[in-house]
Amino acid sequence: MSDPIAIESVLNETRVFPPSQEFSANAHIKSFEEYEKLYAEAEADPEGFWAKQAESLDWFKKWDTVLEWNEPFAKWFVGGTLNVSYNCLDRHLTTWRRNKAAIIWEGEPGEQRTLTYQQLYAEVCKFANVLKGQNVKKGDRVALYMPMVPELAIAMLACARIGATHTVIFGGFSADAIADRVNDGKVKLIVTADGGYRRGAEVTLKNTIDNALPNCPNVEAVIVFKRTGTKINMSSGRDHWWHELMAAAETECPAEELDSEHPLYILYTSGTTGKPKGILHTTGGYLTQTAYTTKMVFDLRDEDIYWCTADIGWVTGHSYVVYGPLANGATVLMYEGAPNYPDYDRFWDIIERHRVNILYTAPTAIRVFIRWGESHVLKHDISSLRLLGTVGEPINPEAWMWYHHVIGKGKCPIVDTWWQTETGAIMISPLPGATPTVPGTATRPLPGILLDIVSKSGEPAGDNEGGYLVAKHPWPSMLRTVYGDDERYKKTYWSEIPNRYFAGDGARRDERGYYWIMGRVDDVINVSGHRLGTAEVESALVSHEAVAEAAAVGRPDEVKGQAISVFVTLEGGRKGDEALKNELRAHVAKEIGALAKPDDIRFTDALPKTRSGKIMRRLLREVAAGADVAGDVTTLEDLSVLEKLRDDED
Ligand code: WT7
Repeated sequence: MSDPIAIESVLNETRVFPPSQEFSANAHIKSFEEYEKLYAEAEADPEGFWAKQAESLDWFKKWDTVLEWNEPFAKWFVGGTLNVSYNCLDRHLTTWRRNKAAIIWEGEPGEQRTLTYQQLYAEVCKFANVLKGQNVKKGDRVALYMPMVPELAIAMLACARIGATHTVIFGGFSADAIADRVNDGKVKLIVTADGGYRRGAEVTLKNTIDNALPNCPNVEAVIVFKRTGTKINMSSGRDHWWHELMAAAETECPAEELDSEHPLYILYTSGTTGKPKGILHTTGGYLTQTAYTTKMVFDLRDEDIYWCTADIGWVTGHSYVVYGPLANGATVLMYEGAPNYPDYDRFWDIIERHRVNILYTAPTAIRVFIRWGESHVLKHDISSLRLLGTVGEPINPEAWMWYHHVIGKGKCPIVDTWWQTETGAIMISPLPGATPTVPGTATRPLPGILLDIVSKSGEPAGDNEGGYLVAKHPWPSMLRTVYGDDERYKKTYWSEIPNRYFAGDGARRDERGYYWIMGRVDDVINVSGHRLGTAEVESALVSHEAVAEAAAVGRPDEVKGQAISVFVTLEGGRKGDEALKNELRAHVAKEIGALAKPDDIRFTDALPKTRSGKIMRRLLREVAAGADVAGDVTTLEDLSVLEKLRDDED
C-alpha cells in the first residue's frame, strides 16, 4: 500500500476462544462453516439475502424493489409499507407473547415496573393519541429529552406509530446543545421529565429545557413526565403534564401505514466540524437489520432476559434497547441509573435478581469494573449469564480477558460488535455459536455486509496492512443522509475514498480475515465509547471571552479509552491559572454537556502550526500523551520551538 495510515497496530494477540459445543449446538448459527456459507451466499446476492430477512417483518404492502442505489443515496424495500411500532407491538399481541414481559424496568432508587407487550401497546397507543392531540402530524419532528424510564421507549414507539420523526437528546447535554439540535431538526414538540436519578442525585431535565427554549422558536409544546416530583416551572399553554394528557387519551390508535423510506429518527453525532450531524434513519431497512442482528449476534431466544446497558440517548439504545429487541418480541431489562449506586455491585445485583441472560455493555464500563475490583462481582450469583457483548470502542485484550473470566466465568461467548451511529446496526461481530473469538477483534463482517480495508486511493490493503475501513455495498440500516444537508453527507462519508462509504476508522485484517479496528483517523475523540469532535470542544472554548485559540486532542486514558486534552492561548494579557481552568471546564460543560469537559488544560503562548496555518494535531497528541496526567499545570512555552522543528510537515 502506497500510503499506509499513521496508526500502527501493536497488538499481536494469538489466544483463540472457540464457542463451546454446548453453546453451538443450541445456537441459531451453529458452526463457522455455516457462517461462511451464509456469508458467501449473501456476498453473491446481498439484495436477495436482505429481502429474505425483511420477510420476517410484517409489511402492510410488500416492496417492489429491494434496493434502489443512486450512489450515495440508498432506498431499501422501495414501494413497501410498514410501521415500526406495529412490528414491535401489535404483531406480538396475536401470539402467546401478548402477556410476555416486554420491558422490566428498575429505577435507580430501586422501584421496579414490568410492562407486558399488551401493556406497552396500550401506553404507546395512548401516547400516540396524546401527540396527535398536540397537533403532531406525520412527518413532524419531536425531541425526547428523558431519563431512562419506560416512557422514553413509549414516546419513541408512539412517534413511530403516527409517522412523527423523533430525535432523542441524551440527558447529559446542555441547554445550548439541546437548542442546536432542536433548531436543526425544526422540532415542534419536546417530551421531557421533571428530572431523573443519577448516582443518587437528581438530574433536572425540565429546567435545562426551560433554559434552551428561549432559543427554540419552533417549539410549540412541552410534555413533562413526572419522575422525581421535584418542583418545576410549568408555563401555561405551552407545558403539559404527561399523566394528565394520558388520563384523557383514547386507547386505540391504529399504526399508520408508512413508506419503507419514511424517516424514523434523527440522531445527532459529532464529526470533524463544530456542528453535530443529524444522522437520518428510515423505516424498513433499519428495522430489518436491527431485528436480524439482534437475533443473530445475541443468539436471542424467547426465554432470555436481555440487558443492554446503553442509554437510549445513544444509537446503541435505539437499536439494541428498543427497536431490535422489541421487533423480536424479547424481554428487555432497562435500568435507570449508575452502576455504583447505592454500591459498586449494582449491575451484578441486578443480574442476580432478574436472572439476566445476555449482557451488552461498553469496554469503558468493563475497565471501570476492573478498577473497582472483582470482589463486587463475586458477592453475586451471576451464573444466569450466557452471552456477553461489547460496543463503542476497541476492547483491549486485558479487559476482554477479565470480562471472559470474571463475568463470563469462562463459559460465555463474547461478541465484540463494531458499528456506528451511521451504520444503524451491527456490521462486524462474531456469531456466538459459530465464530472463534480472539480478544481485541470484532472478527468478521456479518452476512450481507460487504467491507474492505483500503488505501487512500481505494486500493485493497494486504493482510495486516493498516488502512481505511470502508463499505463496498449499501446495507439496509445505513444512514440515508445528514438531515437537511445532502452535501455534507456526500462530503463526509463518500468523498474520502472513491465509491466507498468511509466513516473514519482505521483497521487491519489478519490472516484469518478478522478485522482489528485501530481507532479513528479523523479529528474525532472517542471518550467512554461516545464520539466528540475536537472542533466542537474547540469552538466551545473559543466562545469564552478569555480564549483566543484552542486545540483539542485525544490522549489515551486507561478507563475512558481517550481523554480530552486541550491547548489554549489566551486573549492579550490574560494569565492562565487554576481558577480559569475550572471556569473553562464549566464553560464547555455549559456549551456541550459534562461529557465534553476537558481532562487536561494547558495554556500556551502559541499553537504549533504548519506553514499553511493548520494546527499540528499529531504533535499535540504526542505532547498530550507524554505528559504527566496529574501535572496539567505546565505552560507549554516550548511549542514554538517544536513548531520550527516540524515546520515542513504540511
Ligand atoms: C465509533 C462509532 C455503535 C454504537 C456506539 C458508538 C468506535 C464502536 C467498536 C468496536 C472498535 C468501535 C469506532 C466507530 N467503535 N464499536 N466494537 N471496536 N471500535 O457509536 O458514537 O457512532 O461511534 O465507535 O471508532 O467509528 P458512535
